[in-house]
Amino acid sequence: MHAVLMSEAAALQWHQPVMGAEVLEALNPRPGATVVDGTVGTGGHSLMILPRLLPDGRLVGIERDQDALELARKRLADFEPQATLLHGNYRRLPAILQELGIPRADGLLLDLGISSLQVDRAERGFSFSREGPLDMRMDREQEETAEAVVNELAADELALLLETLGEERFARRIARAIVRAREDGRLTTTTQLARVVAGAVPPAARHGRLHPATRTFQALRMAVNDELGALETLLGHLDAVLSPGGRAVIITFHSLEDRLVKRAFLSGARERRWTVLTKKPARPSAEEVARNPRARSAKLRAIEKR
Ligand SMILES: C[S@@+](CC[C@H](N)C(=O)[O-])C[C@H]1O[C@@H](n2cnc3c(N)ncnc32)[C@H](O)[C@@H]1O
Repeated sequence: MHAVLMSEAAALQWHQPVMGAEVLEALNPRPGATVVDGTVGTGGHSLMILPRLLPDGRLVGIERDQDALELARKRLADFEPQATLLHGNYRRLPAILQELGIPRADGLLLDLGISSLQVDRAERGFSFSREGPLDMRMDREQEETAEAVVNELAADELALLLETLGEERFARRIARAIVRAREDGRLTTTTQLARVVAGAVPPAARHGRLHPATRTFQALRMAVNDELGALETLLGHLDAVLSPGGRAVIITFHSLEDRLVKRAFLSGARERRWTVLTKKPARPSAEEVARNPRARSAKLRAIEKR
């Protein structure tokens, strides 16, 4: 088989939607409903939701990564009349719905974080263990890459970024090491950066469960793609985009994301805009985590609009 096709096949096979059964239960998609999948990825969750919307429901899938969207289109081709897939950012959801002539949605799903497709392709620059450019853009139409962040921020700004988005205890040491390494020329590749980070942390931290560059890469990815900004904007639109009785389900993989969702859900509940369906976040089963380690840190929260 051709190499590209093989990697596509592997991606499609690999990507098991996280907490699939829990998503269906919380979202409760019904025949005739309009559901938005704001992070369609390669279409795993959408593929589970679509049959529940038949015969006359509709799914709007939004994805900012062109490669993922292309795979989702192939995968959801059988549902062409019911599925509208578009390249974009879910933070623009009100405008997207308006452009499609959809007043409000009955369901909204966000499955945040990164897709296997992004990590597996070295040229995308998301992985510290695969040699590639320091890119990390989910949307390649965007200008700013991780290379700009790594090479252009001052040490203090870098340290703050690693501390907040990466929750990295050695943020200052790593930031200083990056700035020192820049004296020999720009850092341009993933493995080059990973080596600088590994050299900056104390020896004991080099051999832990996580690779020492894990948190640095996570922080850079979140910054390059303004992931918290998109989530915060969407949470501000939630009331306006959901129809009465409509549900929103959000899966997070990072404590800062979960905190934003939890606070927004509680504040809307106090204002009697919606009911929180998950007093505590739902977590994946031990069996799912064993099967799919990416699910490990997933937290699912859901609301129902009044
Ligand atoms: C964990 S994956 C989603 C996987 C998907 N649920 C599935 O089952 O195939 C997250 C996806 O969200 C996309 N994404 C992240 N932020 C986005 C945003 N603000 N707007 C649109 N897509 C976004 C990423 O590019 C990535 O493909």
